Amino acid sequence: MEVKLLSGALGAEVSGIDLTDSSDENFNKINELLLEHKVIFFRDQPLTSEQQILLAKKFGPLETHAYVKGLENFPEIVRIKKAPEEKHQWGETWHTDVSYNPKPTKVIILKSVKIPPVGGDTMFSNMETAYDTLSDEMKEKIKDKKAVHSSLGAEAFVKKYKEMEGNGNLDEYSNIHPIVRVHPETGKKILYVNSMYTKQIIDMDKDESDKILKELFLHQERLDFTCRFKWTENAVAIWDNRSTQHQGLTDFFPNRGLGFERVMDRIAIEGDHPQ
Ligand code: SIN
Repeated sequence: MEVKLLSGALGAEVSGIDLTDSSDENFNKINELLLEHKVIFFRDQPLTSEQQILLAKKFGPLETHAYVKGLENFPEIVRIKKAPEEKHQWGETWHTDVSYNPKPTKVIILKSVKIPPVGGDTMFSNMETAYDTLSDEMKEKIKDKKAVHSSLGAEAFVKKYKEMEGNGNLDEYSNIHPIVRVHPETGKKILYVNSMYTKQIIDMDKDESDKILKELFLHQERLDFTCRFKWTENAVAIWDNRSTQHQGLTDFFPNRGLGFERVMDRIAIEGDHPQ
């Protein structure tokens, strides 16, 4: 096995592991790597949908998306598709997946199906480091505070994107989570807000809440917390959705990255109530 670190902050590209090996021994190795690096990448793993589902189920029960329909024969798989002429793609600004759910996703397994020759890399950011590097003053301000996370409604996941098919659910809903959560497996503190879904700090004046959230979002954007993955076809990313944020870069500009299709298969594993 070879493990190549992607940046000083998080992420590793792993070779010498076969993702179709569903033994507990292989899974334990993968989970250890995931907890250590927060996001791990594998190239040349042409998993079938069944094999991707089998791997995902080793992490726990699978989740279906609130607004997007899964594949016809594999409802657990959301196909993230960008048409050649589209300038936007799903997940295009920093976020933690479905933080608006009562039990946001634990782990995501994303497999590349069709990749443009340029553009559409995915960036990840380490939210344990984001917490650790906050000032003592900010840590004190957000200690024991909670925030509202909004699902934004179907508009944000389906209507905006030509190729994303809705499941008929349209309504927005929200849930409240601690701003600092503790990782259930490592015990580490995580800065758990994100600029896509986190709307307001509870029990705080709206102006003060806006000010603090703005400062936190800006802090989370620090490039030294990140790594960037350039996709090739049949690559697989597995990320810990509790301790990271990510964004699919939408650098689809005329005469450069625009004009190509991008297709990814996503499976989400159910998480727990953030504590
Ligand atoms: C996502 O935000 O879940 C998708 C990221 C990507 O397609 O790069």
